[in-house]
This record gives sequence, C-alpha cells and structure tokens, in this order.
Amino acid sequence: MIDVHCHLQFHKFENDYDTVIKDALTSGITKIINTGTSIESSKKGVELAGKYRELYAIVGIHPHHADKLEEGWLKELEALTQHPKVLGIGEVGMDYFSYQSNGIVDPQIQKEVFIQQIELAHKAKLPLQIHNRHAGADIIKILQEHKGLLQDIPGMFHCFAGDMDILKAALEMGFYIGFDGNITYKGLAPGEATTLKDLATYTPLDRILVETDSPYLTPIPHRGKRNEPKYAIITAEFIANLKNLSFEALVEQTDKNVYNVFSKLKG
Ligand code: NI
Repeated sequence: MIDVHCHLQFHKFENDYDTVIKDALTSGITKIINTGTSIESSKKGVELAGKYRELYAIVGIHPHHADKLEEGWLKELEALTQHPKVLGIGEVGMDYFSYQSNGIVDPQIQKEVFIQQIELAHKAKLPLQIHNRHAGADIIKILQEHKGLLQDIPGMFHCFAGDMDILKAALEMGFYIGFDGNITYKGLAPGEATTLKDLATYTPLDRILVETDSPYLTPIPHRGKRNEPKYAIITAEFIANLKNLSFEALVEQTDKNVYNVFSKLKG
C-alpha cells in the first residue's frame, strides 16, 4: 500500500530515514510520497525521491510559510515540477488555527500564495494536495473561483477535517479525501464538530486515500511516538473496519485511487 503524504525529509528523520524507509518497505508499504512545506523541504523531498526507487515527492508552500517567502520562490517551485518523480503541488491551502510557534499568517497572504500555486499546478498539469485547518469554507470558495484552472481530477484534501458540507463540496468538485492516524483517536479534535469516523464513513470508497503525515498524527496504539509510513497500515485497517471490508480489498481500492489522482505515478 501507498503512503500518499508524509515528511521524511523533516529533521525528525535526519538520522535514520534510511532505516525508516526500509522498515516501511518490509512492512508492506510499496510507495512513499514526501510532501514539501517550503522551498527547502520541497527540494529535500525531491532529493530523497532521487535516492530511492519507491519514493516520490509533492512540492509546495504550506500556508504557514506563506509570509516567509523569498524572491524567486515560484520559479524555484516551477523548476521542481519538471522532475519526473514530482507528482503534485502541495501542501497548499489555508490555515486559521493559531499555533504557539507561529500564530496565524495573514489570511490575505495565505490566499495569494495559494492562488499562485493553483496557477502553477495548472501550468504544470499537476493535481493539488490541499492542507486545510479551520479554513474549509474559504478553501472551497477559492477553488470554485479558480475551477477553470483545475485538472480533471483536481487532487486531494490531505488529512481531511471539517464538516459534512465541506466534505460534500470537495467530493462534488472531484477531490479525493485523505485520512490519517488521527482517525483512530477518540472524540472530536479541538474546534471540529464532525468526527473523522463519520467523515470517512460518508466518503465513497473510490475517493479515499490513506496517509500518515509522518512524523505527526501517530495512530493508536503508538500515539505519543514519532509517526512512520509503516503505520499507514493501522489507518488502513481502521478504515477497512469502518467500511466492512477486508484490509486487502480496502488497500486494492485505495492504491487504485492513488494512481487516479497522481497520473505521473507509474506502477
Ligand atoms: Ni503534512
């Protein structure tokens, strides 16, 4: 099975990414997609993809870094999209959650950087991998206003969160929906009104993607430790259970979904 969103280029894996990758591959993970959040981490993700046959990259600026961009960033990003193992633009989007380290980046700057990357995805003919935290309604609005720039399969919402209206709007526009280890957590995440379990139950099987967001969002029973791509298996088992399917049947379909969204990915 494929982990469609993680960050093995982050400093938490600096000393043992090779072990983590090999461990994932022997556990049954067949491909790993590392997503960038800045120019630097996007470049590192592409470098890693060059080192391992099973690794791929998605490049982009996370809304958190939207106010820290240096001149020429868009050209640098565009150059990365030419790499054969760069599958999409992400993680891009909007984030209204106030983080201790960072607060909230000016929403107008977030929006401008998001739109510039929607335009880049159009130019490069690549799908989007979207980050949303407490900004679902604005993201849907921006996407709808730029509908003409989206690919036939426009991309995916990574680590989906929000309410049923946001989910329905995303599905309606053709987006696929990623779920992570936090689906195994009990109750509601702060500021959310709908459980991930309910959202995944509603999402049609042919639109579901499984991801880890490593090093974050470690599923139970490993919660509290660093997340790794091999734990995508736990999330897949959890969703298979929700959908009354065998693990194998779930993974067969979700892998198919990955190839539908990321057409540059070759078997
Ligand atoms: Ni992430």
